Amino acid sequence: MRILGTGSFLPKKIVTNAMLSEFLDTSDEWIVTRTGIHSRHVISDESLEDMGTQAALRALQDAGLQASDIDYFVCSNVVSNWVTPSMSCIIAGRIGLQCPCIDINCACPGFIFALDIVENRYKAGNRGKALIVCVESPTRMCDWTDRSTCVLFGDGAGAVVLGEGDNILGVRLNSQPDPTKLWERRPMESTPYFTGDDSQKSLQMRGREVFKFAVGASTTEVEALLSDLSLTKDDVSYYMIHQANLRIIDAIKRFLGEDDSKFPTNIADHGNSSSASCPILLDECNKRGLFKEGDLLVFSAFGAGLLSGAAALRW
Ligand code: COA
Repeated sequence: MRILGTGSFLPKKIVTNAMLSEFLDTSDEWIVTRTGIHSRHVISDESLEDMGTQAALRALQDAGLQASDIDYFVCSNVVSNWVTPSMSCIIAGRIGLQCPCIDINCACPGFIFALDIVENRYKAGNRGKALIVCVESPTRMCDWTDRSTCVLFGDGAGAVVLGEGDNILGVRLNSQPDPTKLWERRPMESTPYFTGDDSQKSLQMRGREVFKFAVGASTTEVEALLSDLSLTKDDVSYYMIHQANLRIIDAIKRFLGEDDSKFPTNIADHGNSSSASCPILLDECNKRGLFKEGDLLVFSAFGAGLLSGAAALRW
């Protein structure tokens, strides 16, 4: 497939590090040094479906298409107020899509898993156009008295429209399943019979272990993907890395031995917006005219699962 349009949406409330240090034992200096984050957009009166709908409409407009042109819709979302119907069905209803809709929960690499799904459907003969929307509110997963997690995240939505083309050159997906490094649990409804564990816990993270996983998975997969495609690092125009932490991006850069100028970032004023991070970065770079036709973009993302993925595409 080929990307025909991009869109994104950020909640209006901007929370700076100084605002966090009013109620947390933290500082701008600590957060900036350890993460590169200065501020983040945090959901207030917006809903996830509002954000996903706006990002989708902007991607459709950028592609010059209508909702009726879309044949398949994948929504990436970790958690929302809706258990059923799926977030994809809710957004589809808002924008007037009438096509198959599925949700995936692949955490931060969700955009790359969604690309893999639409590309493989296309290769299997479903030649229509696809919409991907990644919409996330990790700030609603954190305990806001826990300074080790809540300072890291921000909310938002990113979307792409894809159509006919052979610009997705390759995708690599991976997992190192381990529910102890990055997780959250919520209780379900009680019944007269259920006697199991229904405990609730906000987002928990073993930061250092996740850091090591992220750097290892990203560098290994990017190198393997380029080798699969008989490409070299010299062929790469931009690395579009999941915006989790500037130190993770810097470590990946060092291991790959690549130049700063190939790594666009927006972590400083977005924080980690889970699967929305890559498509928001893509949209912002696209709208500011960073890419030229033929540029090779290499995406890499990693997160809960633990899951990771890399994708190479020609702009
Ligand atoms: N402000 C001030 N101090 C903080 C803090 C904050 N917001 N958060 C943690 N600390 C403290 C800790 O309590 C600890 O104090 P102690 O030494 O007195 O116990 C100290 O800072 C060091 O904590 P540590 O967790 O070892 O720091 P770190 O250098 O590993 O940085 C992360 C923490 C979370 C920034 C880092 O591990 C990280 O980025 N991990 C990856 C996280 C990530 O990106 N997750 C999502 C992947 S999709």
